Amino acid sequence: MTTRIGIIGGTGYVGSELLRLLLFHPDVEVTMVTSRQSAGEFVFNVHPNLRGLTQLKFVPQDMEQLQKNCDLIFTATPHGGSVNLVPKFLEVGLKVIDMSADFRFKNPVDYETYYGWKHAYPDILKEAAYGLPELHREEIKQAKLVACPGCEATAAILGLAPIIKAGMIDSQHIVVDLKVGSSGGGSKPTIASHHPERFGGVRPYKVVGHRHIGEVEQELNILGAEQIKISFTPHAVNMVRGILATIHTFPKQKVENKDLWRALRGMYGSEPFVRIVKYLKGPYQLPDPKIITGTNYCDVGFEIDEHANRLIIFSAIDNMVKGAAGQGVQCLNLMLGIDETTGLKSTGFHPM
Ligand SMILES: NC(=O)c1ccc[n+]([C@@H]2O[C@H](COP(=O)([O-])OP(=O)(O)OC[C@H]3O[C@@H](n4cnc5c(N)ncnc54)[C@H](OP(=O)(O)O)[C@@H]3O)[C@@H](O)[C@H]2O)c1
Repeated sequence: MTTRIGIIGGTGYVGSELLRLLLFHPDVEVTMVTSRQSAGEFVFNVHPNLRGLTQLKFVPQDMEQLQKNCDLIFTATPHGGSVNLVPKFLEVGLKVIDMSADFRFKNPVDYETYYGWKHAYPDILKEAAYGLPELHREEIKQAKLVACPGCEATAAILGLAPIIKAGMIDSQHIVVDLKVGSSGGGSKPTIASHHPERFGGVRPYKVVGHRHIGEVEQELNILGAEQIKISFTPHAVNMVRGILATIHTFPKQKVENKDLWRALRGMYGSEPFVRIVKYLKGPYQLPDPKIITGTNYCDVGFEIDEHANRLIIFSAIDNMVKGAAGQGVQCLNLMLGIDETTGLKSTGFHPM
């Protein structure tokens, strides 16, 4: 049976990527894509990569029509844009995959701390599954609401999860340094994203107190025996897509390569979209977001620095795919009870 999909906020970058993946997904049909600004426009006028592939038009957000024509809704709206919408969809029996931050936290107080507003639906937070299949696969299968992780959080959590679980590192000194492509900021331009301001630069932003710290700590605290503390600093770099997280950690005791291989293989050995990348030849010995552009992979690698008793983890994703739409489709597949990789098998480009 074909599942009918609605996308709210379909003119944005995540909406675009959801369309790119879902239009070729064999078990679903995109029946409605909403936009407030572009209702009535052909989808391909806003997303030119979809020319010749769909005749869908953007439609206004009409609750009655969405309920009639859809089984599951993706909300690809900015933070704060989903919080009042999602309960309405759930109330009329639609399943929801929310791409925003509005249902990621379990503790409602975290919304006041990280986003500066009080959450109006704390009971729904308890029901939402955090949409990271590598950690919450069984919950996602049963969920009516999945809250997909932030892109930077995805890179950080997948990099750190195996070594936190293994109890290897000092839980109070973990430094996540990220390089982030410009599409991570969405499709609405700002002065900081304007080409002359951004091009050619390497610019630290939200150097302390980044919002994703809350979800990274929430998820890693489930895995480890000790409460952890994350230092987290992203940098805007000269890429459109991609995130590389370089994570500096400090082992409690001496660690060797075999300890890391055991921890990583133990967690990711049968994961379809996490690859352990630590090679001895060629230019791509450690994760690099360039060669996974457009794919749902997260590449994780490591290096041990004996001189400084440091263990460095590297984690690379495409922020629009494993960091957003691809992860959402992976969760959709789990919710539908079909092969988790459906519609997501693809390779990156080399060279590109
Ligand atoms: N970009 C990434 O790499 C990334 C990764 C992970 C998660 N996310 C999250 O995914 C969500 C979408 O991100 P994005 O990059 O696609 O943002 P975006 O490019 O700014 O697009 C958001 C879209 O939502 C619509 N919208 C805005 N406010 C709305 C409202 N109140 N109600 C309904 N629709 C509204 C807008 O379309 P109209 O104005 O035409 O209605 C807009 O096209 C955000 O919450 C973001 O944080 C993004």
